[in-house]
Amino acid sequence: MSIPLSFKGRVAIVTGAGGGLGRGYALLFAQKGASVVVNDLGGDYTGGGKSRMADKVVDEIHTAGGIAVANYDSVEDGDKIVNTAVKNFGRVDIVVNNAGILRDKSFLKMTNDDWDMIQRVHLRGSFMVTRAAWSHMRKQQFGRIIMTSSASGIYGNFGQANYSAAKNGLVGLSHTLAKEGGKYNIHCNVVAPVAGSRMTATVMPEDVMKFLDPLLVAPLVVYLCHESCNETGGLFETAGGWSAQLRNQRTIGYAKRDLTVEDVANNWDKITDFSKNEIPSSGGGTTVAAMERVKASEVTMKHTPTSGGES
Ligand code: NAI
Repeated sequence: MSIPLSFKGRVAIVTGAGGGLGRGYALLFAQKGASVVVNDLGGDYTGGGKSRMADKVVDEIHTAGGIAVANYDSVEDGDKIVNTAVKNFGRVDIVVNNAGILRDKSFLKMTNDDWDMIQRVHLRGSFMVTRAAWSHMRKQQFGRIIMTSSASGIYGNFGQANYSAAKNGLVGLSHTLAKEGGKYNIHCNVVAPVAGSRMTATVMPEDVMKFLDPLLVAPLVVYLCHESCNETGGLFETAGGWSAQLRNQRTIGYAKRDLTVEDVANNWDKITDFSKNEIPSSGGGTTVAAMERVKASEVTMKHTPTSGGES
């Protein structure tokens, strides 16, 4: 039997926790002993309006004997949310960037406002909350951060140019924070969930909504934030009780020092052949791979007999 993972003494901020996935994270953190800031602006799913929907989740946590406070600021005011944690609980250990909205439109019809609003809430909002928490985490040499991406951000989706760009931006942000945070014991991971929530209610049949219970995403997110979890820089897909990790894969490719457009065209099958591949993890590896492969191609050229050469 495994020992239950405790979050006693830890302080967690969950943004957009007034409903859906965020509510599930907040309830589980509190159940595991964390003090939770339940942040939610309380607007509709397109970002309009304001309400105190966070109160309901705080009440649920209190009724179950847990510790929580509500915060109604937008994630764009990240410092106010972090101040709520510090003022009420004296510290901040965990940030789950979950708040989100949708402004779906075909690319042709997408307005500047549709684009900006999505970047502001998802990408800038995650940046603002995380940066406000970062100095606290560095000082205490502990931090656990989650960014929320989406299948749309990883694979693309019709009508979601704004959303997919922001959601993929969060993957890049997380990879960098994992690198910068490593020596301070600050870990950063990304989840791409699927869940039945008000955001998906209009596009999912009822039985699928039921299968994709948002509470079943919480265990992965909460585990990634535990002090015993060493994972950082990871990207995970999760839905309905299933969790899996994704990673980048690179073909061995084709290399030639005096590369021409025709070389690219004639060797397209080698450039795109995944039958032999490698798993890169840093940008520096790109230069090393290029140097090695170009050098190897020069050696091969030297030793490859040309037509009409030696028999
Ligand atoms: P939801 O609409 O139930 O929850 C999002 C919450 O964020 C809402 O309660 C909303 O009031 C809050 N919020 C919106 N703007 C805010 C702001 N500026 N400041 C603070 N709070 C704000 O939707 P759901 O499904 O729970 O989504 C949670 C996250 O998961 C979002 O980032 C979403 O993009 C992401 N996601 C959800 C998927 C799904 O299948 N439900 C799929 C992929 C990603």
